[in-house]
Amino acid sequence: MIKRVLVKFSGEALAGENGFGIDSSILKYIALELKSLVTLGVQVGIVIGGGNFVRGVSASESGLIKRTSGDHMGMLATVINGIAMQEALEYHGVDVRVQSALEIKEVCETYINRRAIRHLEKGRVVIFVAGTGNPFFTTDTAATLRAIEIESEMIIKATKVNGVYDKDPAKFSDAIMLKNISYEQALKDNIKVMDDTAIALAKDNSLPIVVCNMLLEGNLLKIIQKDENAVFSRVSN
Ligand code: GTP
Repeated sequence: MIKRVLVKFSGEALAGENGFGIDSSILKYIALELKSLVTLGVQVGIVIGGGNFVRGVSASESGLIKRTSGDHMGMLATVINGIAMQEALEYHGVDVRVQSALEIKEVCETYINRRAIRHLEKGRVVIFVAGTGNPFFTTDTAATLRAIEIESEMIIKATKVNGVYDKDPAKFSDAIMLKNISYEQALKDNIKVMDDTAIALAKDNSLPIVVCNMLLEGNLLKIIQKDENAVFSRVSN
């Protein structure tokens, strides 16, 4: 069984059908999926994107808002999602701490690596918010960085598709899901599992990237338990 893991959810996932904001039924669903891992004794860190509120790149597209400011807005969006997830997990009896890359100490703890690890060791879920604290880095890169820093065995990228395909499964019915992909192939073929910075960081630190469908109930647990019925693609060496 995997002992320590970092799970990355997109902000859009939280929006559900609405496409914006937070859908409380999705929030509850994710909280219960995570609880099933914690109950087994798995140490869980999570990162949630902010795209359900703001995307730095899109906010800056008109030229009215500078990219740096757009990214700061996006970082704050991840704080909103993190606090919501904290509440949902606590509601279901899971201990949680939120740690922010930007200092907002009235709201949550500031990210301190050693403290995060102590929380994990005590069985608390740690939600890492505000990205890396720097503009021009995505939350995928932030999640990869935190996964490496907390010595997670893998990063799980929870998406709306079952894994990585050789072509877009939404457009091609004969698209084949790839079970194992090398970092080089993911970068060369421009497979949009994560952005190149995140993949390169994972590659340099031999951190396996597992891509799975967050909507397949119980699948996260199967991945953690190395169950042969788990559905996912793996990017690694
Ligand atoms: P240990 O006692 O070390 O096991 O961990 P703990 O997190 O329970 O202890 P601590 O006294 O550090 O924190 C108690 C509560 O205050 C927790 O809910 C923390 O998340 C929260 N907390 C700690 N530091 C900060 C901070 O800088 N800002 C905010 N807003 N909350 C904090």
